[in-house]
Amino acid sequence: MIPSQLSLVRDSDDLLPITHGRLLDFPDDPIACLRKLHARHGNVCAMEEEGQRIYFVFGQEYNHQVLSDSSAFHSRFFAIRGSRNSSQRKLSSGLLSMNGDQHKRNRRLVMDAFMKKAILDYLPTIRLEVESLVASWVPGTERDIARDMTDFMLRLTSSILFGIDQPEVAYKIGHMIDHWVHLNHELGMGAFVADTSIANRYGDLLAYANDLEGEILNMIRMRKANSTGKDALSILINAHDGEGSISEEELVGQAALMFAAAHLTTAHSLAWTLFLLAEHPSVMSQVHEELSTHLDGGFPSLEQVERLSYTECAIKESMRILPASSYSQRITAMPVELGPFKLAPGSGIVFSQFITHHMPSLYPDPDAFLPERWRRINPSPYQYLPFGAGPRMCLGASLAMLILKTTLPTLLQQFKLTSVPNSEVSGKVISTMLGPTTSIMMKIDRQDGQFQSQPVRGNIHDMVDLREIKTIRRAA
Ligand code: HEM
Repeated sequence: MIPSQLSLVRDSDDLLPITHGRLLDFPDDPIACLRKLHARHGNVCAMEEEGQRIYFVFGQEYNHQVLSDSSAFHSRFFAIRGSRNSSQRKLSSGLLSMNGDQHKRNRRLVMDAFMKKAILDYLPTIRLEVESLVASWVPGTERDIARDMTDFMLRLTSSILFGIDQPEVAYKIGHMIDHWVHLNHELGMGAFVADTSIANRYGDLLAYANDLEGEILNMIRMRKANSTGKDALSILINAHDGEGSISEEELVGQAALMFAAAHLTTAHSLAWTLFLLAEHPSVMSQVHEELSTHLDGGFPSLEQVERLSYTECAIKESMRILPASSYSQRITAMPVELGPFKLAPGSGIVFSQFITHHMPSLYPDPDAFLPERWRRINPSPYQYLPFGAGPRMCLGASLAMLILKTTLPTLLQQFKLTSVPNSEVSGKVISTMLGPTTSIMMKIDRQDGQFQSQPVRGNIHDMVDLREIKTIRRAA
């Protein structure tokens, strides 16, 4: 999402690290822009156009300053909030749009859906969806892994949030939230360019938000009448503190936010990891060895997952090199000093996981996919932050890791994935998320333990060094 708040320039010191350019270059290609700014100015700088600025920070020190102090640095996630009492306002009022005491209280209440017990109750749902994915893959065919992971996470997120007793109703709401997020992104971008169709599309967004709110409210009422106790929505409905429980109006926003936060982030992480493994036969071979040693061909138990230490290194490395959440933003709530800058309240700041994760001082040979490095390094929460850090750190991090650590081993025990030779693999940050913008075409075969990478085209080479082109053969 484009930073929704730009600050008016107050100081005009020529010595400050400021790039003068088109602010729209940023959402056009966030990674290229972030890389340029970091290479030119280092860990703190600003970009300025016609008296408006966005500030950028990178690395441990500034990540810590901006992410740990939630009273000075506020979150403002949705660019389009809608008028008071509108469905758009309610849907965009989840945790990421809250600050201060309201955020603290709601985070405590929402947390119930992410405690260990709740997550363990989601395990049968994860298993059901993974097994149905496995059943749909036919050896000898080619599949678009990016598409498959997006569809898989659409089903899984809907089931975890809304329950599995009415899968098609849950899936329909998931689909609608996905489309609503998409409309928000398009219109959020549109606010920065002259486009006469924006007014009409804004009306479409409000009408769509109205329908979506109605569907979520129906689901809330159905769950109130018939709670499974095990889906996230039922847990939120039952959550309460000294001040009471979460109102229906607030539940609408929390449900929409949870779906939006979980769906594409996890889908992208799954797709990138499968792609990186396919392109690194020696890593894939070690993962295969570990899965063959500790698992028995099916969906792993929690005890088995604990033993997959190398697979976990591969997942962490994938989320370092291609973090699904590649940057995010904050707005200053008070006057703040940031490096050489004095920021007025209301200034927009971007921090970036992608740039921090690619700093050679923290991660030598940063563009190389090297899961082994995780045997040696133990970065601080502000040096490695795929799930953010500080008081707003991702509430779904444990759940997301459980999905990754069970889904990938189940798929990889059954199937060998090989990139389709010379296919294009490209990615871009859209709405703060780094995901594939092309298909990721893979040949699916029965797992035989013999791996070979294939040349691919696309801008993936700007983000990852895919040097390892060799065949690893291993007795089946
Ligand atoms: C690989 C998957 C995921 C990634 C990479 C990811 C990443 C993040 C990041 C970076 C933030 C912090 C944003 C900021 O500081 O501005 C965040 C917040 C959040 N995430 Fe996730 N997330 C993932 C999966 C999930 C899942 C599965 C759920 C829930 C079902 C979830 C729910 C949330 C919520 C509720 C917040 C807001 C926390 C707050 O503002 O207090 N996320 N996520």
